[in-house]
Amino acid sequence: MEIRKTGLKLAKSKPKFVDLVRETEDTFDLHTEIKAAPEVFDAEMLKIFEEGWVFVAHESQVPAPGDYKTSTIGTQPIVVSRNEDGEIYVLLNRCRHRGTVVCRADTGHSNFFRCPYHGWTYANDGSLVGMAMAEGWPKDFDRSELGLKKAARVARYRGLIFASLAEEGPTLEEHLAPAKKYIDAWFDRSPLGSISVIPTAHKYPYPGNWKWQAENGYDGYHGNFVHESWQRVLELAGEAPVSDIRKFRRGGRAVGLKNGHGLLERPGGLNPAASWAGRMMVTHPEYAVALRENFDEEYIDYVSSRRNIFIFPNLYLFDTHLRVINPVTVDSTEVYLYVYGLDGVPEEMNEGRFRAHERFYGPTGFGAPDDVEIFVSNQTGGNARGVEWSIYSRGMHRETVNEEGEFEGHSTDEAPVRAFYREWKRCMA
Ligand code: FES
Ligand SMILES: [Fe+2]
Repeated sequence: MEIRKTGLKLAKSKPKFVDLVRETEDTFDLHTEIKAAPEVFDAEMLKIFEEGWVFVAHESQVPAPGDYKTSTIGTQPIVVSRNEDGEIYVLLNRCRHRGTVVCRADTGHSNFFRCPYHGWTYANDGSLVGMAMAEGWPKDFDRSELGLKKAARVARYRGLIFASLAEEGPTLEEHLAPAKKYIDAWFDRSPLGSISVIPTAHKYPYPGNWKWQAENGYDGYHGNFVHESWQRVLELAGEAPVSDIRKFRRGGRAVGLKNGHGLLERPGGLNPAASWAGRMMVTHPEYAVALRENFDEEYIDYVSSRRNIFIFPNLYLFDTHLRVINPVTVDSTEVYLYVYGLDGVPEEMNEGRFRAHERFYGPTGFGAPDDVEIFVSNQTGGNARGVEWSIYSRGMHRETVNEEGEFEGHSTDEAPVRAFYREWKRCMA
């Protein structure tokens, strides 16, 4: 589907950034321009992506010295590079001569980054180690200050690497704190508490705003509509009747966390008939033994819940993959899906997870392509500017707030997406 580009600018009479999110006690609305105005996008790249913490890679994607992975912070190209000292560097992917990207592959291994334009060469920690035809530069030309520029701050949590281009601001620990217990449970599905990303990603670009993807992964409301065909496939295959799938999809809860994070949580448990983890513990007794070596039954029950966890602003932790959102322009986005294995589990268990991933999320899967189609329709509908506001208040009348400041709602409620836009507003103020 083609989308019509209006190129409209946020007119003076239109709301300021913070006024694009309108909240009262029982209403929550977003202005159309929040996903359509180039000025909003430009400000987001600065205020949300460059000043905040952005996920850039998982440690298993750069396991050895010389390994690298390219990505972006907002729209700025970066290289995540493992140096020979074992350290991980996050470098701006821009030659200090005339600005060409020095690394053009998604991932790889190299002892240096050589600029393709005139051959300036940088070590894996970014330092400038060679200038081609050096006699053209004066002898006292200071190379020491001309390394690839480093991200101001880099920090990790459980192998997830984050970077910030701002010298100051909350620490990564502070940023992740409201989501930490959910991230921990997600990793603890592995008896070793860790994951290994499979080397190549699959990616889907779509002609729409990046926030459509951010809003979708914990949206428990759309499943019975957008993924109806998937439910029918499961029924036709004799795996589960549509009525059972719909019942399952209504269970659980949607939670909005502080700092813009959020999750969709489906009930787990140790009953093999009702939970994936429970089933795996029966099918692979060694998995059950390994989990029980680490945790008590209560925590294993907690770990067994299925969670789609969003880490503001660009990362989803899904049961089969890490999903990374790379904004390109106001109406263009690239999404990377990095499938991972759970460390320390039987190989067949991971194989089963990979096949399940392909079936729903893969390029020819029955699920994710339908979501992407919706993102395009969302952006296209936004061109109908005769309506200015969209409604995000589902479940506000019945959600609860606990002492940790978590907004908890029914699994089909819009509690997490409201948490996202509250943080959006705070950043953009
Ligand atoms: S632009 Fe990189 S060496 Fe000239
Ligand atoms: Fe979906």
